[in-house]
Amino acid sequence: MNIENQEDFIEKVSKLNDGKNMKYSVYTMGCQLNENDSEKISGMMEKMKYSNTTKIEEADCIIFNTCCVRENAEDKLFGKLGEVKKYKELKGTIIAICGCMMQEKHIVEKIKKSYPFVDIIFGTHTIHKLPEDLYTALCSNKNVIDILDIDGEVIEGLPIKRNDRAKASVTIMNGCNNFCTYCIVPYVRGRERSRSPENIINEIEELARAGYKEITLLGQNVNSYKGNGSLGITKFSELLRAVNKINGIEKIRFISPHPKDFTDDVIDAIRDCDKVCKMIHLPLQSGSSEVLKKMNRKYTKEQYLNLVHKMKSRIPNLTLSTDIIVGFPEETEEDFKDTLDVVDKVNFEQVFMFIYSRRVGTPADKMEKQIPDEVKHERFNRLKSLVESKIVENNKKYIGTIQDIIVEGRSKTNNNMLTGRTDSNKVINFEGDDSLIGKAIKIKIISEHMWYLKGEVV
Ligand code: SAH
Ligand code: SF4
Ligand code: F3S
Repeated sequence: MNIENQEDFIEKVSKLNDGKNMKYSVYTMGCQLNENDSEKISGMMEKMKYSNTTKIEEADCIIFNTCCVRENAEDKLFGKLGEVKKYKELKGTIIAICGCMMQEKHIVEKIKKSYPFVDIIFGTHTIHKLPEDLYTALCSNKNVIDILDIDGEVIEGLPIKRNDRAKASVTIMNGCNNFCTYCIVPYVRGRERSRSPENIINEIEELARAGYKEITLLGQNVNSYKGNGSLGITKFSELLRAVNKINGIEKIRFISPHPKDFTDDVIDAIRDCDKVCKMIHLPLQSGSSEVLKKMNRKYTKEQYLNLVHKMKSRIPNLTLSTDIIVGFPEETEEDFKDTLDVVDKVNFEQVFMFIYSRRVGTPADKMEKQIPDEVKHERFNRLKSLVESKIVENNKKYIGTIQDIIVEGRSKTNNNMLTGRTDSNKVINFEGDDSLIGKAIKIKIISEHMWYLKGEVV
């Protein structure tokens, strides 16, 4: 897809901004794919002579990159919009909203009606058109709504401003074809579209040259990646093997694979590639075969457990993490106990737990027997206690071990500490000075604190 005419608009907005010290803020509300899109939005903004600020009151343009996977993600946006209205009134700040929520018609209608001060609304298929939309908004007093319902093409060549210095995310595919019955993602991100292997490898080689050491390959369903044959790559396992050969890259992660597509060649590639972390995020969603069927996950409890067993027996020291939804419609106490049973059997390193949230337009939203809130919360709490007790138990194995990590920066929760992660994706905090940031070092683990480990440089 050609983005040349966007370069004209980048030029035009730059001219408007010349010498004005314009500032922008981007708020990202979704998953790592959204974070990666926000890095591209920042890249475009900086080319248009805006500089970044984290102080919202300073910004001349505020962009919200939204998520709609659960209800609380939506509530967050409306809260923020209420907050920024005063800046719009005070100094004419440009307010733009993009991301997954903007692909939902009822949401766009709500914004038009209740938040008419929003200048630009653009969707997941029109991110690259931000320069054009911004130029229109700056030159006219009109609101710009730029949303495509059909799947956009894969866009290459957008400028990008990375959030981190040592690790980088690389989107390898967009969209999802799975239509799990609870999930809105296929409706707002469209069908699966894979990037060409050549473009992916070029991007990672460039990152390696710039000093990046850790790469996370991103997609809603990475193991159904389909390469167009460039560089001889047609599937995910081949892509992993090719990334593994790139000099300078030391760790490779990927998120998320789907259990139904976990073929043997992917398992073998993870085992064979020394840079690929021996950690797999394998979303379970429910431990009940009945519920899994209603969710359209295309595997049973037994198939999931067999897959875990096969992976663990083929990949030495493999660790796993997962996503679980509690309170899916019609979930019985027996179904829920199956979920607890799988958590008990698998020893996950990390479990991301979610309370089922009804999403407009999905099949599960129309199912009659929705679970009452108090039952959902009660089950969530029971799952949480089991997960926490397993994690404390599991964390003990780290104490005294030496971990190879890449220093990511200062800890977000404690500025006195540096932070990095084990191959199994556990956060490690430790003392050290800024010169270590971006380096690959060894850390000895001294204590565990449920959600992170404490260590010291060896
Ligand atoms: N494509 C990824 C996940 C995308 S969304 C995958 O399949 O693994 C991330 C997680 O949000 C999902 O794994 C699921 O656990 C959760 N989720 C999605 N829709 C949800 C809903 N309607 N209510 C609660 N949790 C949901
Ligand atoms: Fe949603 Fe399922 Fe696709 Fe994941 S695989 S994005 S949960 S529809
Ligand atoms: Fe949310 Fe969109 Fe990601 S709905 S989880 S930001 S793909």
